[in-house]
Amino acid sequence: MSVGRALPHDSAELHVSGEALYCDDIPAPASTLHAAFGISTIAHGRVRDLDLSLVANAPGVVTIATPADIPGENNYGSVVHDDPIFAEALVQYAGQPLFAVAATTYRAARKAASLARVQYEELPAILDVRSALAAESYLMPSERIVRGKPHEVLATAPHRRRGSVTMGGQDHFYLEGQVALALPQEGGGMLVHSSTQHPTEVQGIVAHALGTSAHAVSVQCRRMGGAFGGKESQAALIAAAAAVIARKTARPVKLRLDRDADMLITGKRHDFVADFDVGFDERGRIVALTVMLASRCGYSADLSAAVNGRALTHVDNAYFLEHVEVISHRCKTHTVSNTAFRGFGGPQAMVVIEQVIDEIARALSLDPLDVRRANFYGVGERDTTYYGQKVEDNIIHDIADRLEGTSRYRQRRKEIAEWNAASPVIKRGIALTPVKFGISFTATQFNQAGALVNVYADGTVLLNHGGTEMGQGLHIKVAQVVATELGVPLSAVRISATDTSKVPNTSATAASSGSDLNGMAAQAAARTIRLRLVDYLSETYHVAPGEVEFADGVVTVGARHMSFREVVAAAYLSRISLSSTGYYRTPKIFWDKAAMTGRPFFYFAYGAAVSEVAIDTLTGETQLLRVDILHDVGSSLNPAVDLGQVEGGFLQGVGWLTSEELYWNARGQMCTHAPSTYKIPAASDWPELANVALLERARNREDTIYRSKAVGEPPLMLAISTLHAIREACAAALPAGSAIDLPAPATPETVLRAITPLAPRVFA
Ligand code: MTE
Ligand code: MOS
Repeated sequence: MSVGRALPHDSAELHVSGEALYCDDIPAPASTLHAAFGISTIAHGRVRDLDLSLVANAPGVVTIATPADIPGENNYGSVVHDDPIFAEALVQYAGQPLFAVAATTYRAARKAASLARVQYEELPAILDVRSALAAESYLMPSERIVRGKPHEVLATAPHRRRGSVTMGGQDHFYLEGQVALALPQEGGGMLVHSSTQHPTEVQGIVAHALGTSAHAVSVQCRRMGGAFGGKESQAALIAAAAAVIARKTARPVKLRLDRDADMLITGKRHDFVADFDVGFDERGRIVALTVMLASRCGYSADLSAAVNGRALTHVDNAYFLEHVEVISHRCKTHTVSNTAFRGFGGPQAMVVIEQVIDEIARALSLDPLDVRRANFYGVGERDTTYYGQKVEDNIIHDIADRLEGTSRYRQRRKEIAEWNAASPVIKRGIALTPVKFGISFTATQFNQAGALVNVYADGTVLLNHGGTEMGQGLHIKVAQVVATELGVPLSAVRISATDTSKVPNTSATAASSGSDLNGMAAQAAARTIRLRLVDYLSETYHVAPGEVEFADGVVTVGARHMSFREVVAAAYLSRISLSSTGYYRTPKIFWDKAAMTGRPFFYFAYGAAVSEVAIDTLTGETQLLRVDILHDVGSSLNPAVDLGQVEGGFLQGVGWLTSEELYWNARGQMCTHAPSTYKIPAASDWPELANVALLERARNREDTIYRSKAVGEPPLMLAISTLHAIREACAAALPAGSAIDLPAPATPETVLRAITPLAPRVFA
């Protein structure tokens, strides 16, 4: 049985040898043009004059596309139609595409794109969250969830504390940048190879831009070189622009952003600020909490409603909040439109509550872990979230107990305190933080999937499903499911590119739900074929259907054994259909938008991590020394792939919270648009000692594919332990009882500021 085996990623060898075909590697016809965007340099203003004469006359240039060249709608916004492919009169962020130029080579296009002469009438720009809050600059109505009587209970709480939390955004920094290749077809058709998590949406947006219909556009994606949410909505811009030029010139067009353009043009993780007011008792148990969340959405809606919606439902993390009010403001700023990023607003909300807990612990001089434990959701009591969903699968106590033991958290905390007492310059810190993350798209309709399984007469299987591969190992997991269902070796199943013409109306591969949804759909498709074969065999050989079995490429029919291949060949001759679609929709979930209650999540994924760090109090530099992780993936479809997701997700989170700093200057131009100024974690940032384990004998209590759990996003939030270990180390450098003012990312500058609060702000 393939399911449950720790098999390498299906493309591992191709990745390493360089043979894996990414969008840019697809052999392009000789007539292919290469395109590049011309972008604005100001954050907000009107275009008075756009002089493209130098662009048009530059060597190699074939054509320029402006809004006038778009036959259909000049928009790539999926939810609200507020994202122009090319800005018209109004510019709303520095980096916004104004036009695209197509040339015979990639270099020629990029060079020409920079030759535009633009005159602007600059308008005042709102750049950050606090300015937007002050101006009440919102993209959409604020949302609020309340339970109990938070304000009344706060007024009488034994202890009370107010504070603010600040955290930065994050660039996706997928290794493969945004890219599309558009190939005009006969009769107004368009084939688009797109590096996208959401082929169906690209199909729809390309169709609208071209003024045609979905059936005229096919979108394919074999794999992405990473996406992390950055190719959920944003890929449509690149694909639509490529298709528009392809239509205009009747030639294939490739549009590939270089790193700087990618970072300037496309959206990132939302940065957040939060203000909280918390009441608590002697043990640190929260009795009432109000939280104001505000995020920088950028100039347009994009997926901001959903991202902030997830933030709104993740302020609890693993903690029971009885009297609580959470308000979420979605700030409109003149910056790039922020988008999905691994965790989708959840991590930001969880950073808020973890800081609240940490401040309670410091106020009471308690170990933060004890305060965390005092607030965990109960089992059978204190178990309903503030949005009305009962937490039925709570295993956080078990995970925290085990991890506390295996990591020797208590002893090490003592040892670290002693070590710090003797170390004036280097200080260490340790922290354990939990993760509870809701699984399902919060927009109920996205929780559906389709698949197409073809069995060929030679006994081989071609698998197609609506999910996309971005490195996370979705394809091999789904192939394992199909191989198991048909009782064939995994080598008999070939995975093909995701293709809107094979499986229609799909959801983005996002919300970590890829294998939950597509695994089920593909299983259904394979099961249909298997059951047809069972019927055929039981009739032909006069055995009961229960006596037909498929395993290891062998079909057992009563006392007979045949190869799968023989059975399939015979079934074909007997005119049995060997191809089937499959469909799945997640049960049980619903959301009442008016009451802001429901069961938005099918289940929760859990985990916990213990980080130990050292900080240099002279430079503010930090180092992650050790991490211990215990993460719940249910009954794993593929433990090797899942372990990779846990490790990679954790380290990506560490990058977000410690080193990846996005910086905009006062004019709203983003200055950190290359690896020279934007620091993602490197292999050398992986801690010397890492004990990463999947929770053993775990099983999803809900009926998911083989009782597995989603794994894509939740591990990112394990990195909050690293931020809190840094807080602990800062505390050791400060007089006892000091408040800690440490925003994320905890860069050397912010750490140094946090531990030298009275020093002149030389870095300001
Ligand atoms: N892992 C790799 N290697 N590359 C990626 O781009 N994206 C993450 C996660 N893991 C990503 C990844 C995000 S944001 C999500 S939502 C999930 O994978 C999506 O895939 P899944 O639903 O199949 O887990
Ligand atoms: Mo992941 S942020 O849901 O693409």
